Amino acid sequence: MSLLKIAQIGHPVLRQTARTLTQEELASSEIQSFIDNLVETMRDANGAGLAATQVYNPVQICAIEVKDNPRYPYKPNIPLTVMVNPIITMLSEETFENYEGCLSVPNLRGRVMRNTEIRVSFLDRNGQEHEREVRGITAGTYQHEVDHLFGKIFVDHVFDSKSLCTWTEFERYHRDAFVKEAEAIVARWGG
Ligand code: NI
Repeated sequence: MSLLKIAQIGHPVLRQTARTLTQEELASSEIQSFIDNLVETMRDANGAGLAATQVYNPVQICAIEVKDNPRYPYKPNIPLTVMVNPIITMLSEETFENYEGCLSVPNLRGRVMRNTEIRVSFLDRNGQEHEREVRGITAGTYQHEVDHLFGKIFVDHVFDSKSLCTWTEFERYHRDAFVKEAEAIVARWGG
């Protein structure tokens, strides 16, 4: 396995819509080892997720994993999930404010609106179909990653530029208030 370079905001690859993969392509050793590298790169960078477009490969694959993440200590854990050709459907109009960051946007966080209840359907790395309903902060993580496969970055959803901050200033001025909000979301939605 090897670590992949992560594209930074401004690189056009982050604005591409990734192409879907066939079952045959997914089964190939090339794509299977790419998935191994994507997961390894996400873990090495302490990301909560990583999309193929972020590592210069515009195909419909992203990975999510939260395991006591030091970058996002309030996020509920999510077991490793590799999604191929994912589709998100909103289950309600309800939204919440998330405070997001991104490995492709160095040292910046900001408030975005995310749908609170979603259904996501995808193929796993073995080509099996899955459909799951996801809620709360976890639903935000899914939306952030799948957005990358359609050329969107969290900054596109920042509704108040005054919420933008570096990670240091987030810790200093915004963290405590947001952790309280995040705990209330998790308590209400179970995720
Ligand atoms: Ni991101």
